[in-house]
Amino acid sequence: MTEQTNDTTKLSRRDFLKLGVGALSALALLEVGGASLMFLQPRSLEGEFGGQVIAGLVDSFPQGSVVEFPDGRFYLIHAPDGGFLAVYRRCTHLGCTVEWQPDTNHFFCPCHASSFDIVGDVENPPAPRALDTFPLTIDAGQVIVDTSTIRTRDNFTPEQLVYA
Ligand code: FES
Repeated sequence: MTEQTNDTTKLSRRDFLKLGVGALSALALLEVGGASLMFLQPRSLEGEFGGQVIAGLVDSFPQGSVVEFPDGRFYLIHAPDGGFLAVYRRCTHLGCTVEWQPDTNHFFCPCHASSFDIVGDVENPPAPRALDTFPLTIDAGQVIVDTSTIRTRDNFTPEQLVYA
């Protein structure tokens, strides 16, 4: 009779352990599943790199101006002739971030001293080609830059400019 009680107790501990392991496994699966779902969920990229950036009203950018949008990782150029262009701030040599230098009117790469003119054309190598661009539209007077698509180019051509 006593032995039977012991067997029942041993069985109960095993059951308890099995239940515990099962519960922990289920919890781990839930965590992994939840983390995966969060990872797979599309992030809201509006206003930042990888999404649409509403840069502002056409009239807020004087002709000949260059304005940096750090969250979108681009410079918005309002060319002297009135056209707009959005250039990726990544150097086409090895990918460093170029800086706009208003005093000398060019983009400069601090890594290996490449420089680019106001429309992103190479002035000084080793950069092999012009700065990449992003598609740009003007809608209801607003300049909108789509940073989800990077356009490569060898050099600047006037067709790349977008007019209001
Ligand atoms: S990364 Fe810009 S010049 Fe080398």
